[in-house]
Amino acid sequence: MMGFNMRYLELKRKIRDVRMWAIQGIAEAGSGHPGASFSAAEIMGSLYFRKMRHDPKDPGWQERDYFINSKAHSAPGYYSTLAVAGYFPPEELRTLRKLGSRLQGHPVRYSEHQKHHSVPGIEYSGGSEGIGLSVGVGIALASRLDGKKNRVYVMIGDGESNEGQVWEASMAAAKFKLDNLVAVLDRNRIQQDGFTEDIMPLDPAKNKWEAFNWHVIEVDGHRVEQLMDALNKASQVKDKPVMIIANTIKGNGVRHMANTPQWHGKAPPKKHTPVLLEELESEAIIAPSIIAGEKENYEQKIKKAEREGVEMIHLDVMDGKFVPNTTFFADTIKKLRPLTPLPFDAHLMIERPIDRIQDYIDARCDIITVHAEACTEDEFVQIQGRCLAAGISPGIAINPKTDIPDWLLPHLPDLDVIIIMSVNPGFAGQKFMPEVLPKMVAVNKKLRDHGFRGYIEADGGIDAATLQQVYDAGARIFVAGNAVYGNTDIHGAVIHLRHKAEVALERKLLDHATRLSVRADWMKARKNILIPYASELKIEEELNAIK
Ligand code: DX5
Ligand code: ZN
Repeated sequence: MMGFNMRYLELKRKIRDVRMWAIQGIAEAGSGHPGASFSAAEIMGSLYFRKMRHDPKDPGWQERDYFINSKAHSAPGYYSTLAVAGYFPPEELRTLRKLGSRLQGHPVRYSEHQKHHSVPGIEYSGGSEGIGLSVGVGIALASRLDGKKNRVYVMIGDGESNEGQVWEASMAAAKFKLDNLVAVLDRNRIQQDGFTEDIMPLDPAKNKWEAFNWHVIEVDGHRVEQLMDALNKASQVKDKPVMIIANTIKGNGVRHMANTPQWHGKAPPKKHTPVLLEELESEAIIAPSIIAGEKENYEQKIKKAEREGVEMIHLDVMDGKFVPNTTFFADTIKKLRPLTPLPFDAHLMIERPIDRIQDYIDARCDIITVHAEACTEDEFVQIQGRCLAAGISPGIAINPKTDIPDWLLPHLPDLDVIIIMSVNPGFAGQKFMPEVLPKMVAVNKKLRDHGFRGYIEADGGIDAATLQQVYDAGARIFVAGNAVYGNTDIHGAVIHLRHKAEVALERKLLDHATRLSVRADWMKARKNILIPYASELKIEEELNAIK
């Protein structure tokens, strides 16, 4: 059986892979729907990689939960999700829409009879939209009549919601109190060639579904922690079907494809694929460290960070022995946990973490990182094993003078994060140590060469002046203590850090496009995105010359 315990960073990595396979298929085919494939990636990923009971080795498993993809044009993203989940080899995405391929433009329900143009795991033949919810109502009703516990998930679009049949099905589901049915609205506000609110306004969507007697939960549809929170809450609702309104961005993941109708059903040039893949692998994650700034007041700090849309909270646990400072321990984290679904990134600067690891597992951290200097290989393997078993992302940290221990290399495949300290641990607000940069570059290469697919986290003195340097050295998670909480304007501080990460990304992609001799073509496709960074990237003239 799949999922259930997938770790936060592994889930993010899998969803990243989904986008990467989908874009390869679409570019190779020269056609397809990147917009919807990307807006729905976290929705489908959270369902297939974590929430749903299903088994890729037994697609017909009688106890399985059902997923009905009613917005069928998101097929490339859907196929990639099934492939990354293990239903078929992801490489097959490169045959998308080709004659004789099993992966055609719109999904076909799998059966022995249809196996030549379908793949195991597809429950519903989609194409003409507006029908999937009715099918979901039928399956949910039948399951209940058969006394079965299967849950039914139906993903619909907001353009599709123009269809009257959607509302007929909605009434029926409420009439039959189908609390085994969950619909997820991929609310990306774009349909075909325009914006939904211009074509057929759906707002206020929440009121509409509540008026049809559904229990409605609204979330950011690109935040897996919010989606998982909503899906788990939906499982508790009785006597009502549940609608999860997932606010998403069409084309999310590739900046020049995001939130614009033109990428609804258009393929990028194949020659751009390597650059697009690099972009999809380069999401920047900001993690404010709550020990920085004013003393304690952790709740306020977490709330402020959440309002600024950061990706996770960095929790520096210091025992006064491993480092010359004491902060807080698992009991404090336990108290903070109910405050937010934001992932907790626990950085344990303690002696003998093997003796305390269960406390941090029980405190429901999403990531637990221990120091290589504080444990033996055997102890680390135990710690890693217990984190994995608990669905927690294991990480290891190295101090500025420490190199990656060779004993770690065999354990890399199940390691999600490596913290490379750029200050001697113990306090926030210290000065960044540039001498760690060459090590970070070398460690990044060594790790990738040994199959590491996780994240490098830069921790210590990261701010608007140093972020690009660690970005270029391979970091993708950026701890920011003083840069955020040492600042009266937290909003401005987070925006500034993001801006620096974006400049570093655009420079990297431009360099890649140049190496591939597609610079001008890439700049043309990316023009609107590049304009705000033109002076920092010193490309004003070049950009102005592009018509
Ligand atoms: C230092 C901690 C860091 C620190 C970050 O030992 O591990 O996370 O709090 O704070 P700044 O960003 O201010 O260096
Ligand atoms: Zn830290």
